[in-house]
Amino acid sequence: MTRADTGPRAGTAPRSDEPTSAPAEAVLTGLRERRSSAGLTTPAPAPGELRAMMSAAMSAPDHGRLKPYRFIVVDSAARAALGDALADAHAEREPDATDAELDRVRAKAHRAPTIVVVVAAPQPHPTIPAWEQRATAACVAHGVVLAADELGYGAIWRTGWFGEAPKVRAHLGLADHEDVTGWIYLGTPTTRPAPRPVVEPAITWLT
Ligand SMILES: Cc1cc2nc3c(=O)[nH]c(=O)nc-3n(C[C@H](O)[C@H](O)[C@H](O)COP(=O)(O)O)c2cc1C
Repeated sequence: MTRADTGPRAGTAPRSDEPTSAPAEAVLTGLRERRSSAGLTTPAPAPGELRAMMSAAMSAPDHGRLKPYRFIVVDSAARAALGDALADAHAEREPDATDAELDRVRAKAHRAPTIVVVVAAPQPHPTIPAWEQRATAACVAHGVVLAADELGYGAIWRTGWFGEAPKVRAHLGLADHEDVTGWIYLGTPTTRPAPRPVVEPAITWLT
C-alpha cells in the first residue's frame, strides 16, 4: 500500500517519486518562490482574511495538541500605541536617546499596515518540553507568512529585543510564561522581491 492509497488526500498523491502533478508542483513552487517583503503598504489583509490565515496556520505540527501559542493583532490604529511602547522601552535602555532616535524606534511599528504577533505560550507538561512547544509556535508563525503569500500579500517575520522589554511585554499583555516568537509584518509589497536563488538542499541519504 502506498501513501496515495492511505494518505489524507488518498488518490491525489503522485505515484512516482517526483511531484509531477500540476497541483503538487504548484504547491512546491509556491513554497520555493515565497519571498519576504520588507517594504509593505496598504492594503493589509482584512480581518476575515487575517482570521483565515491564523486558522490555517494552526495546522502546524503540535505535540499533544497543546496549542501553546496565541496571536495578537496590531492593526492600523493600534500601531501608534505600540510605537510609543517601543520608544518607552528604548528610552529605558538608552536613557540618553535623542528625540530623533525615539522617533525612529516609534516608526518601527509603522513599517507595515498590520502586524500579527505570534506568542509562544508553553505550558508545563510531563513529557512535552517547552522547546517543542516553542517549535510549534515557530511553525505557526511560518504558517502565517505562507498564508499571507498564498493570499497575495507580503509578509516578513521580524524579531528583536523589544519582545523581551518589560514595557513592550506589558503593552502586549504577555504573561510571564509567554514570549514573542515573531512579529509578522503584513501588507502589500511596495516592490517585487528578487527571485529566490536556487540552492541545493544539504541532504545525507542514509542507505
Ligand atoms: C526567528 C526569525 C527572526 C527573524 N528576525 C528578523 C528581523 O528581526 N529582521 C529581519 O529583517 N529579518 C528577520 N528574519 C528574516 C526574515 O523573516 C526573512 O526570512 C529574511 O529577510 C529572508 O527573506 P526570505 O524569507 O525571502 O528568504 C527573521 C527570521 C526568523 C525565522
